[in-house]
Amino acid sequence: MEKKTFTVLIVDDEVKITEVLGKFMNMEGYDVLVANNGNDALSLAKERYPEVVLLDMRMPGMGSIEVLKRLKKINEDCVVIIVSAVDDMDIALSVVKEGANEFIRKPVNLQELKLSIESNLEKRRLIIENRVYQKRLEEKVAEKTAELRGMYLALKKTNLEIVRALAEAIEAKDPYTRGHCHRVTQFSLKLGKEVGLSGEQLESLEYGGLLHDIGKIGIRGAVLNKDGKLTDEEYDHIKTHPAIGDRILENIDFLKEPRQIVKGHHERFDGKGYPNQLGKWQMDIMSQIVSIADAYDAMTSDRPYRKGMSRVRALEIMKENEGSQFNQELAEIFIAKKLFLLDE
Ligand SMILES: [Fe+2]
Repeated sequence: MEKKTFTVLIVDDEVKITEVLGKFMNMEGYDVLVANNGNDALSLAKERYPEVVLLDMRMPGMGSIEVLKRLKKINEDCVVIIVSAVDDMDIALSVVKEGANEFIRKPVNLQELKLSIESNLEKRRLIIENRVYQKRLEEKVAEKTAELRGMYLALKKTNLEIVRALAEAIEAKDPYTRGHCHRVTQFSLKLGKEVGLSGEQLESLEYGGLLHDIGKIGIRGAVLNKDGKLTDEEYDHIKTHPAIGDRILENIDFLKEPRQIVKGHHERFDGKGYPNQLGKWQMDIMSQIVSIADAYDAMTSDRPYRKGMSRVRALEIMKENEGSQFNQELAEIFIAKKLFLLDE
């Protein structure tokens, strides 16, 4: 392997010392720079980025600790070895605390100096290598995270497409629900946001809103599209759609929560709904929300056998049914905040 030539900067106000050290370092294969005071040392460090600095502890002008601090600011990986005639443990400790890599006594034992430089350069190499490795690792993690996020978003998109396709299937069977599922979803989302549901709950609300009548796929077309009043038998048949919907979605894992809405959107707060007469203590909040949105939209939409009622009349009926058919608080918010107004 080709050996890299390192540069060593020798900083000492005694020319004799810089000469001896310089010659030795040269012979050891280093490029040598010399400075006789702190300011010159810093200028050289900025220009040439030496890997090693041998710094005299006592110099006229800028103090060595200050020089040391500035050197580390210029290049944190620079190996700084303090060379001092003072044999004082406290000073040694304090300069190491300030970032010096080693403390060597004068007169300098050249072999000791050589070993010290070599071991510190090796430490430096490991630190730099580790840093590069860490950075690569971080980049890899960021890359993988972005990849996973992309996959997650793609999956979400597919889920929504499946839900929309299923919603289309309901509309194909029951054309009078065209637009109904979409509007119920919009009303429900507005109400859900207003009462502070979480992002996950809102997603369930969206899917549940779009699919709440999926069970109508299992209802006889003649009953769904009947122009006149339904017989008792026909009405009972229609009332099976929440349970049918529940069965249709049974094995679709990502629709576990929305299924509660499919099953529960005709339950009532007073326990007189269907299919399970749940009542306020057992109804989940999302079913309560969709039941309000569903009822409002059903009342105000045109049907083949009747015209939709006016908004004012529908809201009056809703007020009358607060606390019986609907959760009173939710219905009040729906009306007071005018959540029945859609942007389209
Ligand atoms: Fe329904």
